Amino acid sequence: MEKLKIEGGRPLSGTIKVSGAKNSAVALIPATILADTPTVIEGLPDISDVQTLKELLEEIGGDVSFDDGEMYVNPENMVAMPLPNGRVKKLRASYYLMGAMLGKFKKAAIGLPGGCHLGPRPIDQHIKGFEALGAKVTNEQGALYLRADELTGARIYLDVVSVGATINIMLAAVRAKGQTIIENAAKEPEIIDVATLLTNMGAKIKGAGTNVIRIDGVDELKGTRHTIIPDRIEAGTYMILGAAAGHGVTIENVIPLHMESLIAKMREMGVPIEVGDEEIHIGKADTLQSIDIKTLVYPGFPTDLQQPMTSLMTKIQGTAMVTDTIYSARFKHIDELKRMNANIKTEGRSAIVYGPSNLQGARVKASDLRAGAALVIAGLMADGITEVTGLEHIDRGYSDLIEKLTGLGANIWREAMTEEELEQVKNA
Ligand code: EPU
Repeated sequence: MEKLKIEGGRPLSGTIKVSGAKNSAVALIPATILADTPTVIEGLPDISDVQTLKELLEEIGGDVSFDDGEMYVNPENMVAMPLPNGRVKKLRASYYLMGAMLGKFKKAAIGLPGGCHLGPRPIDQHIKGFEALGAKVTNEQGALYLRADELTGARIYLDVVSVGATINIMLAAVRAKGQTIIENAAKEPEIIDVATLLTNMGAKIKGAGTNVIRIDGVDELKGTRHTIIPDRIEAGTYMILGAAAGHGVTIENVIPLHMESLIAKMREMGVPIEVGDEEIHIGKADTLQSIDIKTLVYPGFPTDLQQPMTSLMTKIQGTAMVTDTIYSARFKHIDELKRMNANIKTEGRSAIVYGPSNLQGARVKASDLRAGAALVIAGLMADGITEVTGLEHIDRGYSDLIEKLTGLGANIWREAMTEEELEQVKNA
């Protein structure tokens, strides 16, 4: 096992290129199951979640290759193989195999998903959708078994606005008989990306990106070629990092429209930002004003950027409050930031940041993906050396992190963990 070491305090500058969106990738790859002929997806990020999904498609009989961001999937020999254990537990998004396999084979058996621990993350709305389409869903020893004689379109109102449930129901409904209407659907850009792929395969989907999606089922889907959208959370992470430790950082391969809530909040803090067609430049701010943040569903401020933003907020003049309305316990990075001399208090769903603090390098642990991003940013801001363990979380979502940050002038490297550290991880 390895840890990340970061020498803080170096001024970062230059250009950093954003990879394809993780949260699109993890849905687009399962979506290839639904076609009867091969699909190619271009621009995929080189992250462990993509690798795990590739292996899962191979496990069910797919012929898959992945090279230089391009994945080829031939689904012709795929079968409805049960996947109750093993790799499916590694990532939360393995739940998209439920919708895709149910849509294609009318049955699926998938272990309940793993992924980041951010408080309760039920999938009741996914199940409600599958059942409305005619599937029988049972939980047998930690795996969901879905079976349907036939899938029939239905009107489904989501009680909670959920990205995963919206996409999963879309996957299950594209080959169902008749029309499905998803009401109170999520509007995230990743949903539009998946709908674009499915539409190019021959699906009939209207309204993706609004809160009502209409899907007219079709009998068959054909493979296609698709280019994934840029990762707005990775872009946001680097924008925040630019403000935290940069002396002029340009982020390339961005859709600025996807970044509006972050741009607005960072400008409110006093960060100079220039927005181009496909790039965003972050200038250096000498002092940062205090702001409050409340995470909301898209286009509100994304919960996935709340943790990285907290690291930046340790530089503000005054007090700021971060409230996460999406996840009740996405604050595991706070104790680690406190080890680095941050002054932060948590109260229920909120964190109150008292700034400014001079962060100090420390040994810290990434408990989840975006906590990892927050700690990398804090490490770049801090005096001295920061060591981050829990790299497996960061590797799930940030493609070529070390290369990208080294390109900005950061001193960041991986190192094998000592025997003593490995022992501590084992006993934790
Ligand atoms: N929820 C339910 N029931 C459900 C589904 C969701 O109560 O059936 C609740 C959740 O507990 C949560 C809220 O609804 O409180 C929103 O959850 P959502 O379903 O939208 O989240 P998700 O689809 O599981 C995706 C991203 C997350 C991101 C959220 C919110 C993927 C693979 N994951 O998760 O990304 O935080 O949307 O935007 O797309 C990350 O990238 O670090 C990450 C965790």
